[in-house]
Amino acid sequence: MPIRKLSQDVINKIAAGEVVQRPANAIKELIENSIDAGAKSIKIKTKKGGLEMFSIEDDGCGIAMEDLPLAGVRFATSKLQEYTDLKDIGSFGFRGEALASISHVGHLTITSKPASQQVAYKLSFDGGKANGEAIPSAGKNGTLIQVKDLFHNMNMRQKSYNPNETFAKIADVIRAYSIHYEKLNFSLFRIDKSQTQVRSWNLPDRKTIIEKTFSKEVSSNILTSKLTDEEIGVDGEIFFTSSVYCGKKFILLIFINNRLIESKQIKQIIESIYEDFLPRGSRPWVYINITMPGRNIDVNVHPTKMEVQFLHDERIYDLIKKKMDMFLIPTKTDRTMSVVPTFLSNHETSVIDLNESRDSRRSDPPSLDYQHQMVRNDNTSQKIDSFLANIEEIRSGNNENKPLQQQSTPNKKTPDSPDQKKSLKRKFVTNETINGRAKRKNCNLRSMMLLYDEICGNKDVDFKNLLDTLIFVGFSSSTNIIVQSQENLLSMDFSQLSEDLFYQIIVRDYSNFDVDEFETPIDIPSLLQLSNMPPEKWERLLIALKNMREMLVDYFGIRIDENYNLSGMPKILDNYRPEFNKIYKFFEELEDTNWNEEGKCLKSITKALAKFYSFSNYHRDELEYLREVMENTVFPIFKSHFFMPQLSDDFSEPVKLTSLPALYKVFERC
Ligand SMILES: Nc1ncnc2c1ncn2[C@@H]1O[C@H](COP(=O)(O)OP(=O)(O)OP(=O)(O)O)[C@@H](O)[C@H]1O
Ligand SMILES: [Mg+2]
Repeated sequence: MPIRKLSQDVINKIAAGEVVQRPANAIKELIENSIDAGAKSIKIKTKKGGLEMFSIEDDGCGIAMEDLPLAGVRFATSKLQEYTDLKDIGSFGFRGEALASISHVGHLTITSKPASQQVAYKLSFDGGKANGEAIPSAGKNGTLIQVKDLFHNMNMRQKSYNPNETFAKIADVIRAYSIHYEKLNFSLFRIDKSQTQVRSWNLPDRKTIIEKTFSKEVSSNILTSKLTDEEIGVDGEIFFTSSVYCGKKFILLIFINNRLIESKQIKQIIESIYEDFLPRGSRPWVYINITMPGRNIDVNVHPTKMEVQFLHDERIYDLIKKKMDMFLIPTKTDRTMSVVPTFLSNHETSVIDLNESRDSRRSDPPSLDYQHQMVRNDNTSQKIDSFLANIEEIRSGNNENKPLQQQSTPNKKTPDSPDQKKSLKRKFVTNETINGRAKRKNCNLRSMMLLYDEICGNKDVDFKNLLDTLIFVGFSSSTNIIVQSQENLLSMDFSQLSEDLFYQIIVRDYSNFDVDEFETPIDIPSLLQLSNMPPEKWERLLIALKNMREMLVDYFGIRIDENYNLSGMPKILDNYRPEFNKIYKFFEELEDTNWNEEGKCLKSITKALAKFYSFSNYHRDELEYLREVMENTVFPIFKSHFFMPQLSDDFSEPVKLTSLPALYKVFERC
């Protein structure tokens, strides 16, 4: 057959068929137009899975009457002028193609009213051309787009679609946008069934939207993590179900620079992460939200805009994998073992596989293979120390009190459900001090209550979930400790977390600290000479300390006399004394304290104390003593009383060193 040029009509239809592959693509384009128009609410209605009719109504800026004739014309847009604008494009639209394409495969009617216009105007389009002129019509501020008989001129395509399936795809798109645009109100109404299928109106946060648009099962099993790589300007977050969740359908919502996209690579990565430990037939639920500089992403790759290309893709995939690995692996054993024997226990051991009921493939009795997954996940269980002589002397301080471990039972539950969070909060305000004594005084100082509220407002629930699984193992360097989280060994810098812990204890137990009296009082001016504080600031600090000495001893257990001598510091934890020979560092921290404002002053003293008592720079000679403190005091309190951490941006997250299965592979051969 000779080569002939296709007619414009055929060209347009082919192009339109690529943009509008099914009703869900058209609806996605229209939602994006509404968001570009600044809409706050977007209502979608469908009939016969969108094939007979769909409409979308928004309360955005509207289209002026004089612009209406161009809205449905190919390559007419209000969003892009020059090609170079594309690299910084902030809108979804840029081609001026969506509405025209829809009008090539369906009957399109636009009714629109900008707030400045008295009435709405209505104009219909077919084949990329307006049918006559816009006529006045009833209509609210915003835009209503109606599409009838989609694919009326593409017989094969119309027949090949099943309305239930096309509707399911529409619902998927709307759920995805409801979750991503948590502040916008979306609704999807199925006219032929008189049913509202998705509704995200006025829901308070993303987790509730997930619950309402998907299910409680998904929302209550969600783990979250930040996705940040400052070097390449990537920021974002990931919400993903724990290994306990077994969905029927793999839901993966990926938004890059607010665009809903599909990515085979990310899909494969996530499948491979979950494949190790989800039972066959079970699927995860994942939402990824990444932003990056506009110049690093090419959005003009595919007619449906569902594919994008971006720089540093491998690095971003690695970041996703690393974050998911870190949080998912600890939950893995939750699901596979409910009884976790210790290696050293003489008792009979048993393993109960919770998958059994869900997964009939695993009908074999538990075999010895499971031993490589058996980990001690409870500080109170028997361990090698019980066979060794106890370390009796705890530094120079007297140590009459029982180890805290015996006084309080660690709370093993993770605070991820609202009920658990509440109970944690209750625990935090209990009438006992952290050290287990009944409170002598119950002070309700407003400034301290505000600090307390701030702590309760910390939201790093996902990280707290990880913290709750931790068991102290040992020290790996002068700054890092090694912890066990289920079957993984992690290395972490504990200084900031321990500072957070002391801060919370001080806020909670202020006014109730015993004073650790010094044998010889220390002269504060000579301490200041050791510090980095400029001498011109010494006087101001000394006067403030003198004037406030009653408050300092009363609230914080810091005893200072009239002659600027420090004679005692608080016993914040009974079994632990910080390195008092470095006490000048505490005063250094008070350099910029605002002594005139109660709230700021108390916060600054609390912070300085917390920093001084926190664990950092461990010395070789101290390790034995500190190990005792960590195991018997700090980690139990961490589990039982620590509220959400308030991590600063430079916090370096724990690094996974190895895992029990990995070690087993090596040592099994020996
Ligand atoms: N809901 C809406 N509210 C206000 N203006 C709209 C709305 N929908 C479309 N428009 C206007 O109609 C124009 C054409 O829309 P259309 O979706 O066809 O193209 P686009 O959004 O500019 O680019 P793209 O084809 O990439 O989506 C838009 O540029 C915008 O000015
Ligand atoms: Mg558009």
